[in-house]
Amino acid sequence: MKIIRTVPELSGWRAAVPSTERVAFVPTMGFLHAGHLSLLHDARRRVPSGAGSLVLSIFVNPTQFGPGEDLDAYPRNEAQDFELAESAGVDVVFTPSDPDEMYPSAQTWVNVEGLSSTLCGESRPGHFQGVCTVVTKLWMLVRPDVAVFGEKDYQQLAILRRMHADLFLGGELASMPIVREDDGLAMSSRNANLSPSARADALRLPGFRSEVLRRFGAGARDVTVLLAGATAALAPGVVDYVQAVDASSLQPVDHVVAPTLVAFAVRYGGVRLIDNVVLSP
Ligand code: PAF
Repeated sequence: MKIIRTVPELSGWRAAVPSTERVAFVPTMGFLHAGHLSLLHDARRRVPSGAGSLVLSIFVNPTQFGPGEDLDAYPRNEAQDFELAESAGVDVVFTPSDPDEMYPSAQTWVNVEGLSSTLCGESRPGHFQGVCTVVTKLWMLVRPDVAVFGEKDYQQLAILRRMHADLFLGGELASMPIVREDDGLAMSSRNANLSPSARADALRLPGFRSEVLRRFGAGARDVTVLLAGATAALAPGVVDYVQAVDASSLQPVDHVVAPTLVAFAVRYGGVRLIDNVVLSP
């Protein structure tokens, strides 16, 4: 497995890939878990060894963290990530040695309007500009035939699909479902920052998600009914948002008449967790 830490080295590697070989790409912020591994396995399945290369990027992208967010506390473990990457069949890890490597001037930004106006776009101003900018840069450097993203960040995925189409980035953008712990908590690198008691409290998140699904299955379509009691059910978590939005436009809805995303962002012991469910009538 090749480790690349600079942009010129990555560009040089990419230029030398024969046109007969395919490139699969999984961008991450590291501290890999089973969710990331499902992306890597899917990418490796799409481009088997012998048919081309699997590239993993590990970069805790500072521009997608707002002031007071958890940039410094974001979990990191390079040695463990390299081991997991190797066992998942990764050929190349790109992990920039310094943020300046990715932001030579920090004057050029990529924004997707509309889809960024609700949910995390509203509660984390500037977050998606940081995500879109770094993914565009990575995409242009790696020039993947296919890149695979997780569906836990549903809004991120919707925005990146829009950006990928609008900027003619080429290749295919694929996604994989949320991977959960045995007790239902969605896998996230941030779970490592939960204290044992916050980890136990955080189970209220998948618990309430299941309750929303149960209500929907029992025929509820009115969003106030579907989400009734959310704040109490998620306590002691501090709710950032619990919102039902149209699954395509991501604009708020009152009734579920078309595929609807119910998205959650809740803090347990100060750790911000997200989860979601799509209700399809
Ligand atoms: O989903 C993530 O881990 C990040 O937002 C991404 C796509 C790697 C961009 O930094």
